[in-house]
Amino acid sequence: MIQCYPFELLPLPYLYDALEPHIDTETMFFHHSRHLKTYVDNLNRLLKPYPEFHECTLERLLLENKKLPEEIRQGVWNNAGAVYSHQFFFAGMTPNSTKLSGKLKDALFLDFKSWEDFYEVFFEMALKLFGSGYLWLAADERGKLVLLPLPNQDTPLPQLLTPILNLDLWEHAYYLKHRNLRADYIKAWFQAVNWAEAERRYQAALLQNALHTSR
Ligand SMILES: [Fe+2]
Repeated sequence: MIQCYPFELLPLPYLYDALEPHIDTETMFFHHSRHLKTYVDNLNRLLKPYPEFHECTLERLLLENKKLPEEIRQGVWNNAGAVYSHQFFFAGMTPNSTKLSGKLKDALFLDFKSWEDFYEVFFEMALKLFGSGYLWLAADERGKLVLLPLPNQDTPLPQLLTPILNLDLWEHAYYLKHRNLRADYIKAWFQAVNWAEAERRYQAALLQNALHTSR
């Protein structure tokens, strides 16, 4: 779905209570209807006086951020990044039972040796990310998987990496339920990951790079 100005608060692909007990209802409600809505509103407010950028997608606003007028550049970077990252994060979870499979499973085992190795590295990186940000699982142009901790609302897009999954590590993503215990939240999030969506994203990345026959 191509989005541009005015950006909208897209509905979640499930109900606020659907991810219980892993991600609680109150957190989902505030995260989506308050935090994400604020980022959407901020982005529209910033872009409103600049009709020449009203056709820009979130991806373009991030990839070509330097072309924006200086007075809105950082604000658009932050808020377009936040809208992109949150939509991606919410769609990367599901109340349905899904399993790591397909080409993504093959690549993950190739690049991290085993599920246990991947989980351990992911867990440590998520735990150690200082302050607010996201841990991204992304694919490079050859389909190789990388883990990328990024601060604030930064995305892997400017590094020409294709996002596969992201874990929101801002305290607003877990403080209501887990307080300061980020490790508990990371464990809970793994129970809600939408591996089917992650596989779809990875296959799309391979297709986009015409790599599906080379790995
Ligand atoms: Fe968030």
